[in-house]
Amino acid sequence: EKGGWSSFMAKEVSEQPDAVANTLRGRITAEQVVVPELTEFGDDVLAGVRRIVIIACGTAAYAGQTAKYAIEKWAQVPVDVELSHEFRYRDPVLSDDTLVVSISQSGETMDTLMAVKYAMSLGAKTISICNTQGATIPRESDAVIYTHAGPEVAVASTKAFVAQITALYLFALHLARVRGSLSAAEQATQVAELQSIPEKIATVLGVEDEVRQLAHRMSHTRAVLFLGRHVGFPIALEGALKLKELAYIHAEGFAAGELKHGPIALIEPGQPVFVVVPSPRGSAHLHPKVVSNIQEIRARGARIIAIAELGDAAVLPFADTVIHIPLAAPLFEPLLAVVPLQMFAMELAIAKGLDVDQPRNLAKSVTVE
Ligand code: M6R
Repeated sequence: EKGGWSSFMAKEVSEQPDAVANTLRGRITAEQVVVPELTEFGDDVLAGVRRIVIIACGTAAYAGQTAKYAIEKWAQVPVDVELSHEFRYRDPVLSDDTLVVSISQSGETMDTLMAVKYAMSLGAKTISICNTQGATIPRESDAVIYTHAGPEVAVASTKAFVAQITALYLFALHLARVRGSLSAAEQATQVAELQSIPEKIATVLGVEDEVRQLAHRMSHTRAVLFLGRHVGFPIALEGALKLKELAYIHAEGFAAGELKHGPIALIEPGQPVFVVVPSPRGSAHLHPKVVSNIQEIRARGARIIAIAELGDAAVLPFADTVIHIPLAAPLFEPLLAVVPLQMFAMELAIAKGLDVDQPRNLAKSVTVE
């Protein structure tokens, strides 16, 4: 039931604070992460993991790409993120100390299911991150961490994405605790950050009117570019995917550092570019680099829409529009920065008179190859 909302998507975007809060519930004890579903694995098994391979498709794969930074930093295990359909049709090297983590909202994506089965046949242990109780992928996996986003009806994934990142961060912190790679104090700091996210997402939801007006002004746009760096990079990819699938607009996400290696040639006067700007405090080393990217493309006529931390004065002179997000530690910024991008794609689709719940040619779960 849409319950008064104009679309399931609008409802689901607004439910993101709860999606995160519900996914955290029951998994934090005394400022430490203890995911009950992982305890059956045995600490010795988790402590012995030498490599993690994340498999997923679409938005779920971007959740995986985002979490790679946190897992490597906190648990100090190398992480590869693979598209399920690419993974299963080559000869991946896996061993019994590799942990394969699949991510799927529906739990029924055929490519991901087949990739999980393939990984198991090669001897890897598998964990599934899933939003649908009793779905096929979690049933096939050794363990499951459910995201508690609630049913996601709109084809475009929104609340499941933030819940997936939340579950992956819990996984990373559980792993870090078992492996002793993070001190109790550091663990408590990350837990506090996680717990502060629902309220911060609720704050970001307040940019709705601003984003709607922007989308209306841009309703005739033919192509949009998205730039991000570090954890902002998968968010740029996700922003582009949302715009493609909902508003049928050509959109590309790039790592900001790649600009000079090709994409800057696309910049011509009037080209809209969304830039996910890292925090000037938390990412003091990256922030000036992204600001200089903004200056470079602005000098070539790009129209800059910056997603930036509240109080970031450095972007103001160069951006045509700044959408503010609250302060958060760098690894947590994606959970906030993605929200205006989801809203922008939805509002642009609405401005074009499109069906945001059921975009053309797409199905909610892709149960065929
Ligand atoms: O159900 P899954 O999470 O396995 O689905 C994966 C993708 O098909 C899905 O995220 C798709 O990319 C969405 N339509 C994106 O909004």
